[in-house]
Amino acid sequence: MITAALFSTVQRSNLAGQVTPGLTRMSQPAASEAPRWGVSSLDWRSHAVDESAEHPGGGMSPAAGSGWSWAPPSLTRHPARCACPACARQPLTRHSVGFVVFDVERARRDTPGVRRVAHLNNAGAALPPVQVTEAVIAHLRREAECGGYEAAEAAGEQIEATYIAIAQLISCEVDEVAVVENATRAFDMACYAMAFAPGERILTSHAEYASNAIALLQIAGRTGALVEVVDDDEHGQISLTDLRHRLTRGGPVRLIALTHVPTQGGLVNPAEQVGALARQAGVPLLLDACQSVGQLPIDVQRIGADLLCATGRKYLRGPRGTGFLYVRRSLLDRLEPPFLDLHAATWTAPERYEIRPDARRFETWETNCASKIGLGVAIDYALSWGLEAIEARVTALAEELRTRLRGLDGVRVHDQGRRRCGIVTFTVDGVPAPEVRRRLASSGVNTSVSHASSARLDLPRRGLSELVRASVHYYNTDEELDQLVIALPRAAKSAG
Ligand SMILES: Cc1ncc(COP(=O)(O)O)c(C=O)c1O
Repeated sequence: MITAALFSTVQRSNLAGQVTPGLTRMSQPAASEAPRWGVSSLDWRSHAVDESAEHPGGGMSPAAGSGWSWAPPSLTRHPARCACPACARQPLTRHSVGFVVFDVERARRDTPGVRRVAHLNNAGAALPPVQVTEAVIAHLRREAECGGYEAAEAAGEQIEATYIAIAQLISCEVDEVAVVENATRAFDMACYAMAFAPGERILTSHAEYASNAIALLQIAGRTGALVEVVDDDEHGQISLTDLRHRLTRGGPVRLIALTHVPTQGGLVNPAEQVGALARQAGVPLLLDACQSVGQLPIDVQRIGADLLCATGRKYLRGPRGTGFLYVRRSLLDRLEPPFLDLHAATWTAPERYEIRPDARRFETWETNCASKIGLGVAIDYALSWGLEAIEARVTALAEELRTRLRGLDGVRVHDQGRRRCGIVTFTVDGVPAPEVRRRLASSGVNTSVSHASSARLDLPRRGLSELVRASVHYYNTDEELDQLVIALPRAAKSAG
């Protein structure tokens, strides 16, 4: 069954967005169905982090048709650079990192950008695979050749395939998805659609992103709702104890807004546990999955998210200017979008209109069709690797980078959280983060800087004003990590 699911996805992604007959049934999972991707029915992560577990065994390996198949879970964890006979037998093109054998060569062949730069700014915008770029360009050509409206009509199935891909990615229904310009617009559409009453509370966390926080503050200012920041626990992630406390005491809580992975660090907030508390309390959970989607498996049923916002350009490797909003069906008709147009609603009589019943009420009619198609192709591409395999590869690479950075004098790694992802943040003593970034860029390594202005609830109270952020993806290599590490001491010395 796993192989069949993967095969269908691969087939579809190879067609650069053309819908494979028979895919639709599989792509619209019923809300109650278990996740269908890769090995999610197994306790994958507990194998991946269990240092004491016995080594070695099977793992993920390429299946015919270039998907991935699961070897029996007799094996456990392989270290980052494993010298065991099983790994040594792997062809050179397959890199064994952590628990997973990942065809990095294939990923890099699909990613022309890797020939020019060591791109460790995937939390900014990842390098797209060639399949995405080609799909976008093909549609732009079609528009130029036959007209924008005519091209959209001809590409109707491809555009629809994007919704199907999103539904597959996060385990929801197609009519619960709106495709919008970015994660911020998705977050805004959800929040500004809620009618908050004075005194109603919105719970957020220290991981909250600047744009979200600004929107919540504006909403509070307009409506008299109150924004409260839930404490962190000893790992720097949202405290479930404090959340439980706030949900059971004080005035009514109207919304929990949780950032899954913050822009400024590698921690992964415990979304499933937050979702369970939200459900118990009957409070909707809005999950900002902007940094987690594409690098971690996301299942809104399992998490218990009622709303989810995400972007296309980061770990999903989609085009810029794309994002999506998920709205649980039972919430849809309680959320009135702050803006409506003739796509979101129908003008039924001179003085009347009807808002459409599905999540597309949060969209506008005019849209960038080429990018929308590209987003769907990017998601299919991610699904063809499998999100569990991607997480294992990305997480192991990031942990390897943290280990190497910790070994350098004057370099401090700042990532928190019990569970961590592909974002690595650090400072170099005596060297401002923008200068570190500039030096790395001059050595051909892309990173970025997280400033306190993006993370007011987090960085200042940790005594940090800015961080260098190196965010890895599965197509990055050990050699690229070396490139960063080799460039760093020079940056520290030259500024010292
Ligand atoms: C955690 C988080 N949420 C939201 C956003 C906003 O995403 P977008 O730029 O797609 O609106 C970002 C952007 O970096 C982010 O890191």
